Amino acid sequence: MTLPEPPSPTIRQLARAVFPTASAGRDRPIYWYATASEALAAAIQALGRTVVWFPAYFCNEALRYVRRLPIDLRFYDVRPDLTIDWEILEREIGNFRHSSLLVLVHYFGCPNHTETARDFCNSHSIVLIEDAAHAIMQTPGIGCASAVLFSPRKLFAVPRGGQLLMDEHLAGGLPGPTASNSSDIWGWAARRLIQRALSKAGVPWHFLPTYRHPPVSGSAIPTGNGFHACVPYIQRLVSVAEREIPAVIAARRGHYLQLRKWCDQQQEFQPIFTDLPSGVCPYVFAGLVKTNVEHWVDILRSKGIPASRWPDLPPEVHDSSRFPWSLALAGRTVLLPVHQSLTEDQVERMGELLASIGALTRK
Ligand SMILES: Cc1ncc(COP(=O)(O)O)c(C=O)c1O
Repeated sequence: MTLPEPPSPTIRQLARAVFPTASAGRDRPIYWYATASEALAAAIQALGRTVVWFPAYFCNEALRYVRRLPIDLRFYDVRPDLTIDWEILEREIGNFRHSSLLVLVHYFGCPNHTETARDFCNSHSIVLIEDAAHAIMQTPGIGCASAVLFSPRKLFAVPRGGQLLMDEHLAGGLPGPTASNSSDIWGWAARRLIQRALSKAGVPWHFLPTYRHPPVSGSAIPTGNGFHACVPYIQRLVSVAEREIPAVIAARRGHYLQLRKWCDQQQEFQPIFTDLPSGVCPYVFAGLVKTNVEHWVDILRSKGIPASRWPDLPPEVHDSSRFPWSLALAGRTVLLPVHQSLTEDQVERMGELLASIGALTRK
C-alpha cells in the first residue's frame, strides 16, 4: 500500500477551473502571490517595520523572500506546546517595540491564542502578522491581525499559491507581483493523477527513490526584488477546491482522530496537539517521538507512508542555550498526512504501523 503525500485533484476539479468561477465573498480583500513565502515577505515590506520577530520553530526555506528585505530578522523560542512565552518575548523585544513586527504561526492549522497575541501587540505598539499557512481561512480564532497569510497548497490539491488578507488601507505599500510561469501546472496535474491511479490500483510506487528520499527544496535567496503572481488558473482551482471545504474539514478531522486513537496504545509517538478544537482543519498529524526521528521517518516511508521531519530550521537558531524548546521540538517531530484523498483503511494501516514501530522501539 502506497499513500500519496499531498491530496490529488480530480479531473472534474481540473476541468472546472478552466472556466471562470465565483469565489467566496470575504470581508477583506485577498492579495494573491505565487507562494505563501512571497505573501509573507510582501506583507512585511508593506507594513514597514524594521525588526521582525519569527518563531525559531520555522521552516528556513519559507524565509527565502523575507531574507531579501532590509530588516533586522530576529527569532523567539516557542514553548513545547508551540505557544509564545510572552514574558520572555517582552524582555527580548525591549526597546525595539516601536519598530517591531511579530509573526505568529498557527501551527498545523490550530489557532495559536490570537487574541492574546493581538492584545500583547496592541499594548506594546507592535504590528502583528498571522502566518496561517497551515490553516484553512474559515478557522475560528484566526484572522484578527493586520495581515493574515495562507498557503492553499497545504490543504487543497493545488500546486502552489499564497493568499494574503489585509485591510485595504494598509495594502497601499504591497509590492505588486509580476507575471508568473504556468508551464509546470500540467506536469503537476499529470503526476498527481498518475499517483492517484497507482494508489487506487494498489501498485506499490513507494519503492521509487523520490518517494523514499524526496528532494529537498532549496532555501537560496531569490535574485532580484520582484514577487511572482499566482496565475488565474491556480486561483480558480483554489476556488473550486474551496467549494468542498466542509467535506475536506470532515475528512481531515476524521483521519486525525483515527490516528490519535492509535497513539493511546503506545507512548513512543505522541501528538503535539491531543485536542482538535471545533472547526479546526488539521494540516497534518504532528507527533513527537522520543528518539531517532530519522529512523521513524525512514521506516514509515519504506512501508509507503509519506512521513516527514519538520523542515530545516533557520541557521540563526542552532544555539541550544537560546532556543532550547524549538530545537528539541524540531529534533523529535514526525509529520503524517491526514489529507482528504486518504481512505479510512489507509489511515488505519498507518495507525497499525505506528503501533508496531512503537513496540519495536520499546524492545
Ligand atoms: C509556517 C509556514 N509559513 C509559510 C510557509 C510557506 O508556504 P509556501 O510553501 O506556500 O511558500 C510554510 C511552508 O512550509 C510554513 O510552514
